[in-house]
Amino acid sequence: MAEEQGQHDPKLQVEAANKAFEQEFERFARFTGAGVSSAHLSLSEAEAEQRSLADLRTKHFGKKSALAACKKAIGRVAPEERASFGQLVQQVESRLVQQIELAEQTLSSLVEAARTKRESIDVTLPGRRPRRGHLHPITLLREKVEDIFVSLGYAIEDGREIETDFYNFDALNIPQNHPARAEQDTFYTIDGLALRSQTSTVQIHAMQRRGAPVRMIAPGRVFRRDTPDPTHNPMFYQVEGLCVDRGISMAHLKGTVAEFLRRMFGPNTVTRFRPSYFPFTEPSAEFDFSCFKCGGAGCRICKNSGWIELGGSGMVHPNVLRAAGVDPDEFSGFAFGLGIDRMAALMYSLDDIRLLFENDIRFLEQFE
Ligand code: FA5
Repeated sequence: MAEEQGQHDPKLQVEAANKAFEQEFERFARFTGAGVSSAHLSLSEAEAEQRSLADLRTKHFGKKSALAACKKAIGRVAPEERASFGQLVQQVESRLVQQIELAEQTLSSLVEAARTKRESIDVTLPGRRPRRGHLHPITLLREKVEDIFVSLGYAIEDGREIETDFYNFDALNIPQNHPARAEQDTFYTIDGLALRSQTSTVQIHAMQRRGAPVRMIAPGRVFRRDTPDPTHNPMFYQVEGLCVDRGISMAHLKGTVAEFLRRMFGPNTVTRFRPSYFPFTEPSAEFDFSCFKCGGAGCRICKNSGWIELGGSGMVHPNVLRAAGVDPDEFSGFAFGLGIDRMAALMYSLDDIRLLFENDIRFLEQFE
């Protein structure tokens, strides 16, 4: 009924628009008084209120609002009443706009304050210490070996992990069908390249590139089709050593390996050579050193033998020198190779070398 009347009487129309606004605005009235605190409003709540207030503004002051309709009605009222009606509409509008703007201002300062609070940093809080990484035990050991040999005048060679049969076998005096190929069987790519089964491959590359004389060590990863167990892994690390010059003899080999082991495990370390066989050295010898734990008396680490086996060595076979383009009548040399993983297992008393490759942080953290 009132609505119907409002449609005919423009003043009632204004009153109805005013009333509708007041009713809906009531919930925002708390933002128009002084001393409104943000204590009870979170940032998201304040932002939600801001959005509803913006909707309310559009609804009551937009083009399709009741107030806009009143403004349009100004032209239709009788000319003698037009001025006062126009004034009425204006007064109502500016009063309502004033209220809404007050609430808008309050809400935007509440939002601002809540944002500042969220983004503020408590500079008195203790800092978070970043986790520091450190080198892998194999790397630590490799670097120690490198330091010793660099101080003895050796260069460090960086080898390839994928090789042709020539470098992995033929050039190392292991021809097709030689039983040593089975012992050092490895993994192959589909086009017949081999993952190197020993760092001895670098001997050939080094001599081809540097010629003779040459003194180098080559640490790196090697691969074999070995079944994993506590002392075997299909991927492990070796260090190769090669010294080729005029007049090099077995005495140089023994002196160098003994000096390396003394620097590695202490000045009282004793080295022993046992005759052995490798296709690429002649004569060949495996070398052991006196146990660094018990000094040779016998303990758990050396399995009560007093000795620890470390690697293979020998005088470079003339066929190997030839394959690498070095004249065996002019030059001779020695080579040796040892496994870093087994050395790490001994030094750190590990029961299983596979622990070194599991990447368990709790294990690795112990070797800082
Ligand atoms: C060789 O690989 C020879 N190239 C060493 C050599 C170099 C001899 C130069 C003469 C002249 P051998 O197969 O014994 O030798 O391996 C050397 C070392 O690698 C071993 O003593 C051992 O410490 C380590 N090793 C061998 N197989 C594995 C494996 N599956 N897992 C971990 N370490 C291994």
